[in-house]
Amino acid sequence: MDTVTPRLHPLGVRIMHWTNAVAMLIMITSGWGIYDDYVIFHGTHFAAALRLGSWAVPSLLWHFAGMWLLGINGLAYLVYGIATGRLKQRLLPIRWLELKATVVDSLHFRSAHEDLTVYNAVQKLLYVVVILAGIWQVITGLLIWKPVQFSTGLALLGGFQAVRLEHFIGMSVIVGFLVIHVALSLLVPSTLWAMLRGGPRVRRTAVRT
Ligand code: HEM
Repeated sequence: MDTVTPRLHPLGVRIMHWTNAVAMLIMITSGWGIYDDYVIFHGTHFAAALRLGSWAVPSLLWHFAGMWLLGINGLAYLVYGIATGRLKQRLLPIRWLELKATVVDSLHFRSAHEDLTVYNAVQKLLYVVVILAGIWQVITGLLIWKPVQFSTGLALLGGFQAVRLEHFIGMSVIVGFLVIHVALSLLVPSTLWAMLRGGPRVRRTAVRT
């Protein structure tokens, strides 16, 4: 019988998290390269140093390669999270009163990070939003990649140009999340260390693996 209690972030979660970080960076920076060739907002461009690929075609190739990494890894994270109950246990429920209290605490520079094994309501909300944004990106990306095969879905979401804009908005949500997420993990390095090394051991009832 296995008597060792699991880590807060089991190895599988850590591998999927960092694979996702690499895949997201590839998708965002190559997406900026594709965008630059055919802009949505007149006069807005991304600096060459921020774009993956020297022009639209290499950027597209990066985007399609990154798509498989993001899609397969994301699916593995969702299947694992649902099958083990991790997603539900770590990210739900999100209570309105807790959310309000955490926002007030943060405005007073009081951090609710003493216990690494529990996400506060703001963290939970941010993680749920970014997971949904990731799913949204895959769906809208597939629609603009295969507009003929997915013409019904494309029409439901407003047509090709509308879905391009919706894909761009999804990217902006993820980039906004990343700015906050990376800043917080640097401000509270113990969380970063835990995502690298696994963190404290937790009772099996806290996270089933
Ligand atoms: C390279 C930049 C990144 C850094 C430094 C980073 C850091 C971290 C850290 C430290 C945690 C643990 C938080 C805690 O225990 O309080 C975490 C969890 C998480 N991160 Fe990131 N992360 C990065 C990129 C991303 C990206 C690109 C996404 C998604 C778009 C993401 C989504 C998540 C999610 C959903 C969790 C919760 C995972 C779980 O408990 O199952 N992260 N990240």
